[in-house]
Amino acid sequence: MDTELRDRVVLVTGATTGIGAATARAFGREGARVALTYRGNPDLARKVADDVEAAGGQALVVRLDLEDPATVEEAAATVARHWGGVDVLVANAVRWGGDGPPDPGVRFEDVPIEEWRAMIDANLVGAAAQVRAVLPGMRARRWGRIVLISSSVAEEGLPGPGPYGTAKSGLYGLARALAWEAGRDGILVNVVAPGFTLTDSRPPVPAAVVDALAGATPTRRLSGADDVAKLVVFLGSGANGNLTGEVVRDGSAAARAPHLGG
Ligand SMILES: NC(=O)c1ccc[n+]([C@@H]2O[C@H](COP(=O)([O-])OP(=O)(O)OC[C@H]3O[C@@H](n4cnc5c(N)ncnc54)[C@H](OP(=O)(O)O)[C@@H]3O)[C@@H](O)[C@H]2O)c1
Repeated sequence: MDTELRDRVVLVTGATTGIGAATARAFGREGARVALTYRGNPDLARKVADDVEAAGGQALVVRLDLEDPATVEEAAATVARHWGGVDVLVANAVRWGGDGPPDPGVRFEDVPIEEWRAMIDANLVGAAAQVRAVLPGMRARRWGRIVLISSSVAEEGLPGPGPYGTAKSGLYGLARALAWEAGRDGILVNVVAPGFTLTDSRPPVPAAVVDALAGATPTRRLSGADDVAKLVVFLGSGANGNLTGEVVRDGSAAARAPHLGG
């Protein structure tokens, strides 16, 4: 199947580690021009950029901070100056809050309202800001693919703080509205909802936990970042002819890991 991605310009946000890094590499293997963003780890981003180029793509590293809307605009403008505009947006960057995935031990009423605002602002309004920054160019070229990275937590919930799951569920509404709004201009918008994914950024998970979680999935295995990346590449490519406004659940999404977050 031809993904029609050679020389397409792809912006993958939050691409230093995990699903974003794997996605950037996967687009690189398709010969795409991949702009990848970092927030605090430029060196990691450069290593992923090297991988993209070694795989046959081209790479550009830019900074983007979901908590600083000007950097979202600047990142899109930098890509446009360099390559003439973004064809494919993968809105993957995440503000976890704290040190990583949400802590299920935190009680709802102990999450300050400022933290709610910060999480919704970064992870939902931040996704809308990424879309706003690239949409005019896609409309002008009458072709675009947008993939918003949500989480199974959006549907399944998670004991503990709600802001992460609430922000991620908001991406569903964003995708549905945008699918109608932009579809006539050849732009397809979808959500990928990964479940518990084994990534290079996640602290080691005991084998017994992996086995238990894997046993709760249809395929009896947890996804790795590469599995999610392949799905994102399909949705973000010309191989996706007319699928839009959908939420695609990764195989791991059936495995519930409330004690580990994600
Ligand atoms: N891993 C899972 O099991 C899982 C499950 C469901 C959904 N997801 C979703 O999948 C996506 C990727 O998850 P992951 O586990 O692969 O993430 P990750 O490895 O923790 O990487 C997060 C990325 O986001 C960047 N980032 C952090 N804070 C940011 C901010 N404020 N502004 C902009 N960028 C920021 C980081 O850049 P720096 O390194 O430069 O700081 C990094 O590139 C997220 O949207 C997440 O919600 C993940």
